[in-house]
Amino acid sequence: MLPLISAAGLTLDTAYQQINPAQWQDLLSLAHERGALDKRQALFAGQTINHSEQRAALHPALRNLSMQPMLIDGTDVMPEVKQVWQKMSAFCNQLIGITDIICLGIGGSDWGPRLVCDALYQVRPKEGKSIRLHFVANVDSAELATALAKAQPNSTRVLVTSKTFTTLETIRNARTVINWFKQHQLTPSQLKKSVIAVTANVQAAKDFGVTEENIFPFWDWVGGRFSVWSAVGLPIAIKFGFSAFEDFLAGAHAMDLHFRDAPAHENMPLLLALTLIHNQRTHGIQAKAIVPYAHGLRFLPEWLQQLEMESHGKTIGIDGSVSDPTSPVVFGSAGSNSQHSYFQMLHQGQQIIPVDFIAVREPMSQLSEAAEHHQLLIANCLAQAQALANGSEEKNAYDSCPGGRPSNLIWLPRLDAYHLGSLLALYEHRALCLGAIWNLNSFDQPGVELGKRLAKPIQEALKNPQQVSEGIDAITQARLNWLTQQ
Ligand code: F6P
Repeated sequence: MLPLISAAGLTLDTAYQQINPAQWQDLLSLAHERGALDKRQALFAGQTINHSEQRAALHPALRNLSMQPMLIDGTDVMPEVKQVWQKMSAFCNQLIGITDIICLGIGGSDWGPRLVCDALYQVRPKEGKSIRLHFVANVDSAELATALAKAQPNSTRVLVTSKTFTTLETIRNARTVINWFKQHQLTPSQLKKSVIAVTANVQAAKDFGVTEENIFPFWDWVGGRFSVWSAVGLPIAIKFGFSAFEDFLAGAHAMDLHFRDAPAHENMPLLLALTLIHNQRTHGIQAKAIVPYAHGLRFLPEWLQQLEMESHGKTIGIDGSVSDPTSPVVFGSAGSNSQHSYFQMLHQGQQIIPVDFIAVREPMSQLSEAAEHHQLLIANCLAQAQALANGSEEKNAYDSCPGGRPSNLIWLPRLDAYHLGSLLALYEHRALCLGAIWNLNSFDQPGVELGKRLAKPIQEALKNPQQVSEGIDAITQARLNWLTQQ
């Protein structure tokens, strides 16, 4: 098998994995045995692959620009998808005079649009509309305060993005923005125009006071962390135009077609997944670094952290049995900055931590010196991969690097909407393959509920320190006592 494979404009180079043909064959057999290819088919067929929530996960329909029918329970979802595209496109053209959009949302309702808007802005700042986007996720009011300080109330819209429309951070932030509008004397009719919702829970958005025409729906068959392709991606269309959003969808669609149709031994998402399985099997790896050598991709590690660790940070498999080792810790940051922090550990630490290097062939700014900068950037990227793989033997052990540390290299020809689409879809499909191999449901996150539940009585106790609250243990109670006695 060739270590180089191209699809949807991307090239994956697995040469520094040092996987020999027999090992590739074993890995491909494992993928077959564990049903990775059946899962792929079930995904595109709209089958119920999110078993715990009894839903399909049909995010490829959201970027199905071919408009070929995509069915759930015999119903084609494409007409509804198209309706939302039309509504998004019309909305983008109506924003004349708007200076600021406060984009509220968290997790899957934040990382995708935040990453894509940042990436496109970094590369072509002048191509975006002059509207300022302010992404706010944290319930810490500091993030919101910073955004509000830059916005002009009369020409600001707030975009409340939440699949469930119940997420505490997003709803709290939305209420505060509405109060801010009121404090700036917006009339009820101005206020109505100013609040926009993107949600799969249309009724909850209406109950919150959002008018129907300002609600952009999506559907329960779209997982939160797979939702950037839905109206969750509206900030991308607002800032860079609906055609840029379509380019983003087109890149993902091209990757979908490749994933759906390519044979296993040439299938980029599957092969990328198998390199991780190989690293687990041969080195017992517990962590994986994602290092894009592109400032514009600086949020990719966080986006991928949610995609991987919320999907696969699990112990119990679909059939109730304890699964093999599952998701490693995913971390990372833009190169070359990362070389000056945790790369020491990658080279000489006691754990083997494989790396996905991501690099872009074209320079990413319009500065006259961009080409020289880019040569330095690429040289460093290639050198790090070589150093990790081959190591070095120095006079003393202290300075030596052991080598034998695997990495992948993913090339984008240029950083634009199309290739961002194909890159994100590549990792989504890799996640599907990993979920199949680990026998996990990649589309739920039951583990995040406990903490949310426990926060409620604690919040009550903070509000009413005199009242006895149930469900607070002795250590937390002591912390509350300390806090409320200061
Ligand atoms: O807390 C986890 C989570 O449910 C994520 O899966 C999701 O992306 C995020 O919260 C936000 O959820 P929502 O879009 O419903 O506000």
